[in-house]
Amino acid sequence: MTAGGAARSRPGAATTASLEEFKARLPLAEIVGHWVKLSRRGREWVGLCPFHNEKTPSFTVAEDKGFYHCFGCGAHGDAVSFVMAVERLEFKEAIARLEELTGIEAPRRAGPEAKRADPGLYEANAAAALWFQARLADPEAGAARAYLERRGLDRATIGAFRLGWAPADRSALGRSLARQGFASALLVSAGLLRVPEGAGEPYALFRERVIFPIADARGRIVGFGGRTLGDAQPKYLNTPDTELFHKGRLLYGLDRAIEPARRSGRLVVAEGYMDVIALERAGFPAVAPLGTAMGEEQLLRCWRLVDCPIVCLDGDAAGLRAALRLAERAAPLLRPNRSLAFVVLPEGEDPDSLMRTGGAEALAGALARPEPFAAFVFRVVRAGLSPGLERMEERARLRTTLRGLVAKVADPDVRASLAEDLRARLTAELERLGLDRRSPRRGAPSGARGLPPASRAVPASELLSGLGRLESWREAPILAPLLANPELLAEVEEELAELVLENPVLERLRQEILLCWSQDHHLDATGLADHLARCGLAEPAARVRQAGGSGGEAGTDEASGSANDRWRATVARLRRRLTHRRELDALAQRPDMAYVERPLGGLDRLLNARDEDAAGEPPPYPIRPRES
Ligand code: UTP
Ligand code: MN
Repeated sequence: MTAGGAARSRPGAATTASLEEFKARLPLAEIVGHWVKLSRRGREWVGLCPFHNEKTPSFTVAEDKGFYHCFGCGAHGDAVSFVMAVERLEFKEAIARLEELTGIEAPRRAGPEAKRADPGLYEANAAAALWFQARLADPEAGAARAYLERRGLDRATIGAFRLGWAPADRSALGRSLARQGFASALLVSAGLLRVPEGAGEPYALFRERVIFPIADARGRIVGFGGRTLGDAQPKYLNTPDTELFHKGRLLYGLDRAIEPARRSGRLVVAEGYMDVIALERAGFPAVAPLGTAMGEEQLLRCWRLVDCPIVCLDGDAAGLRAALRLAERAAPLLRPNRSLAFVVLPEGEDPDSLMRTGGAEALAGALARPEPFAAFVFRVVRAGLSPGLERMEERARLRTTLRGLVAKVADPDVRASLAEDLRARLTAELERLGLDRRSPRRGAPSGARGLPPASRAVPASELLSGLGRLESWREAPILAPLLANPELLAEVEEELAELVLENPVLERLRQEILLCWSQDHHLDATGLADHLARCGLAEPAARVRQAGGSGGEAGTDEASGSANDRWRATVARLRRRLTHRRELDALAQRPDMAYVERPLGGLDRLLNARDEDAAGEPPPYPIRPRES
């Protein structure tokens, strides 16, 4: 324990320490009091938890210890995590909010990270935006004004989004900003001017384009998009990445959407500038990425505003493909309160065109019933295959794709419910087509179809390290009964499919078993063993057979019932164990748990011991498994 505390503090002690000091100075009860009505109870404060619904207060604030704890939902943390959670802010934003609330100054990071962007860059962008806006009133901009009018934008909208016009003149912007005192080099690093290849003066990047200023979350202009009136390429030209402008991080419209999105709980993710504008006019807070696909950072940003942003896309093939990729990218980030819904517009329409043809009503109609994540994913994956799913390979592909998506989900609760949802959809679809997967295939004798080709061989080093990690072989009892009786797969295939095993070798085995079964429902033990041997998995398979025994353990529930009930009991037991272990790990990570480090270590040993003798029911220590 002596070293425990010190080992916990990260390197760069100076900044860490000063953050700790800052936190220690924060009046926690007063801060929490902005959101929760607190009353005193002994040395603590209590109130209704802001993180779950309750009628009797189980939310406590321990001012002296500097943390809050909810005995109802387990929410726990300090002032910073409280503000992050309750306001859905990033760490940095929460610190700023705390400064604002309390007037206590937060520590500034020393060293190279302290280097802030040159404030001149913001000023240059702001000045340029004003200049572009003014140009829209010039005689030369008649065509641009007519264009915007044609696209249904009134003066108020043009003003609100600060749209402008970049004239053809290559040096006018530079001249005007130079007169305002901006150095040419600064304008180049702001992306407003470009240095010509050979010699010569820097010239304006945007020419003869309608200008859409792009702001950061705080509303400071950091770059521009410029749309051509004609056929010039590209249709939209964007500021290149600069110190302020990062395509992967910014979202068009975010600054305007933040407030209404938080208030209404609604946020639409659209594809383009004009869509964001149309959506806002129809009363939907909206954002769009800047000509790139939505990245992780942008998704997380949206989730800080609402639980379930609505992704709104064009219904053409490219749009659907992009949406599926987005779903895949989102999968690892999904949480019980963090999802996505989808609205697919008729092919060739976007929110902007709908707004123009049908008005706000048409847009609201289209957005009225967004498709939940699972429904959308299933529909799109399914739509890529033949209507009748006659070929076995197609069915296998459907399963594999869905499985792959489920496997990407990191949150165990979300993963389980997504798996269940998709499985139900799959079953319904196969039943609808008269292709009930549980009925064995008629005709073809075992082996006649040939087994699937052995997939990528595992490097020997990986195999060895897996074999070496003795402790993770506790998952072997999941696979052992399947190796002995592959026909069990007819009953448990879907459950097996949604498991992800921790031991990489066992995980490979699991996948090969599934693959093999999906292609041959008459698979027998010898056929499976042959296939695994051809994949280089003979040794681990033998080891699983040894370690796993019969799959039922004397003296437990697992010894009774049918083979598939026994198998399910084994899986349930191992799952519980994994949950306990994860909770223990999570608990051990918490700084305020440092003082229970020793007892936790004891529990861990206990858990290991129990794993070894593989006894049944949950262990008798006071950690509640999450039931859902
Ligand atoms: P679209 O081509 O769908 O354009 O590109 P749009 O938004 O419907 O634009 P209008 O209605 O023709 O004016 C969608 C988004 O992709 C980015 C822009 O952000 C655009 O809004 N994009 C598109 C670019 O960045 N560069 C391009 O050349 C084209
Ligand atoms: Mn459009």
